[in-house]
Amino acid sequence: MPDRFSQLFFQLRAGGVLLPLLLFFATPVFAGLSLIYPEPSSFVTQSRHLILKLGNPEITTVIVTVNGVASDPLPVGTVEYRRAFRDFLILQPLWDKGKNQLLVDTFAGEKRLESFKSEIYYSPNSDGSDIPKEFRSTALHRPEAERECTPCHNMKPTEKQVSDVPDKDNACYLCHKRMGTQKFVHGPVSTYSCAYCHPLSGKPKYATIKRETKLCFDCHVEKQKQLKGFKFLHGPIAADLCEVCHDPHSSDNPDQLRQPINKLCLSCHEQVGKGVHVVAVGDGTSHPIGGKTDPAERGKGRELSCVSCHDPHGGKVRYYFVTGDDNKMELCQMCHKK
Ligand code: HEC
Ligand code: HEC
Ligand code: HEC
Ligand code: HEC
Ligand code: HEC
Ligand code: HEC
Ligand code: HEC
Ligand code: HEC
Repeated sequence: MPDRFSQLFFQLRAGGVLLPLLLFFATPVFAGLSLIYPEPSSFVTQSRHLILKLGNPEITTVIVTVNGVASDPLPVGTVEYRRAFRDFLILQPLWDKGKNQLLVDTFAGEKRLESFKSEIYYSPNSDGSDIPKEFRSTALHRPEAERECTPCHNMKPTEKQVSDVPDKDNACYLCHKRMGTQKFVHGPVSTYSCAYCHPLSGKPKYATIKRETKLCFDCHVEKQKQLKGFKFLHGPIAADLCEVCHDPHSSDNPDQLRQPINKLCLSCHEQVGKGVHVVAVGDGTSHPIGGKTDPAERGKGRELSCVSCHDPHGGKVRYYFVTGDDNKMELCQMCHKK
């Protein structure tokens, strides 16, 4: 089984009791297996955690299958496991794009106890508009789910526990540390200043009170000033959007871009990749727009791309030429010095 699931919790630290032991006197009710996150028949836009409550104390092993690919048998019945995590199983799934058939089989020894099925829809970076209606939105920080976590996690942090408290000491860190593992992590996410954008007072819990330019310009004052000076604003920015291109958290592309630059631009400007762009070169084909090194000084040796010639945010002239000049010859000369 490859890395569809990285099993988070089976490498318990040697000799360490992970958390102070909790004493529970209430009689537990065994309600059977339940899917805490994502909720059944919901959609997610990021592949983060899969959280199950097993319900039945007899369960020793669980097999989780997504679209026919099964995990190894996960041993959840050991004393150490039960002591640390009780009957919670938390995995990091790798959802496939679109519909995912989730199947969870539970066993007591060899005996199968329960087979739980659900569908989860995964649409990376989506704004929700492409998601089939039968899938609903989901949240973890809802009262019924948080109640399950409260025995072991701080679900009601104070302002002090989240403001100016970096990394490990931050009340959001433990559960969200994987957000910081992509290649390019946004400044405030790398310091776990989550509550700046997701205030504790948000309703529903941790909802962002500002979005897009209103949020981004809080801190990116220089960018706001620069854009004010532009005569032409790029379409999405004229519509006050930033998040269509930038992930507010992190990404494997520089500047937290949701896709590599040309792919991102061509997702809205499909025709540019098809016909002749810039100018037809000797053999009648298009001038390159990628796949070569950008020879201009400002390119700093990066690959030629849309932003070698166009400022992605707008400009002083039509087409947002990076030279800031309408004269196409000037643009050519930036790279072709006689
Ligand atoms: C007990 C673990 C835990 C703690 C502590 C925690 N979160 Fe979460 N949070 C999750 C999980 C799990 C999700 C679902 C997404 C995922 O798997 O990362 C989530 C989702 C979210 C969401 C998306 C909305 C939702 O309800 O699903 C936001 C926003 C969020 N968390 C913010 C925060 C902030 C801010 C803090 C600190 C004040 C925090 N979280 C602390 C586990 C936690
Ligand atoms: C019986 C105690 C217990 C309960 C209840 C519990 N957890 Fe945890 N959880 C832990 C322990 C122990 C860790 C590991 C701590 C460590 O790594 O230091 C952990 C770690 C996590 C992590 C970090 C995983 C990662 O990505 O590394 C997440 C997310 C998480 N819990 C979410 C939840 C959520 C959400 C709930 C409620 C639905 C919950 N937990 C309920 C004990 C518990
Ligand atoms: C610069 C602002 C900003 C910061 C800082 C930030 N977020 Fe977000 N976050 C957003 C926006 C904007 C959205 C999308 C709107 C929404 O879904 O509410 C979002 C959505 C989310 C979601 C749901 C979608 C997803 O990506 O899974 C989670 C979970 C989340 N944030 C958790 C966190 C956590 C945890 C931190 C701290 C490590 C954090 N955020 C820091 C702005 C921010
Ligand atoms: C709480 C303050 C804050 C908010 C709000 C914020 N940013 Fe940032 N952003 C930063 C910091 C700090 C950096 C890191 C700057 C550095 O390293 O020089 C950064 C870096 C960036 C970068 C990388 C480029 C660079 O200059 O390093 C981009 C792109 C970016 N932010 C976009 C956004 C977008 C889009 C939004 C709105 C969704 C946003 N930011 C909201 C503080 C913020
Ligand atoms: C059409 C897509 C798109 C939109 C919309 C967009 N950006 Fe960008 N942004 C980019 C690209 C592409 C880069 C990388 C430019 C480069 O590599 O030269 C970038 C770079 C940045 C940078 C770092 C480099 C710089 O130019 O200073 C910041 C900061 C930034 N964007 C902020 C924002 C803010 C704030 C918004 C909303 C007002 C926004 N962006 C909207 C595509 C976009
Ligand atoms: C979310 C969709 C979207 C993305 C992504 C996008 N654009 Fe645009 N772009 C638009 C819209 C909308 C317009 C305005 C169209 C109009 O006025 O005809 C526009 C206009 C332009 C124009 C001016 C066209 C004209 O006729 O004046 C240029 C140049 C341009 N975009 C380049 C880019 C580049 C470079 C990127 C990648 C960094 C990019 N676009 C990414 C939607 C997008
Ligand atoms: C080598 C420079 C260069 C590169 C690279 C480049 N462009 Fe252009 N682009 C131009 C020039 C020059 C024009 C003006 C064409 C004209 O005057 O008819 C233009 C015009 C445009 C226009 C408006 C007219 C039209 O064709 O729709 C859009 C949109 C556009 N470019 C998008 C892009 C995108 C998206 C990319 C990356 C996939 C890209 N450009 C890469 C130089 C470039
Ligand atoms: C951002 C840099 C850049 C700009 C601006 C630019 N080019 Fe190019 N151009 C290139 C690169 C890179 C190649 C590919 C060279 C190679 O194949 O090694 C190229 C190739 C060409 C070729 C094919 C012959 C050759 O030299 O290999 C022609 C003709 C050409 N460009 C004309 C133009 C014209 C006309 C303009 C202005 C409208 C222009 N270019 C703007 C980077 C640029």
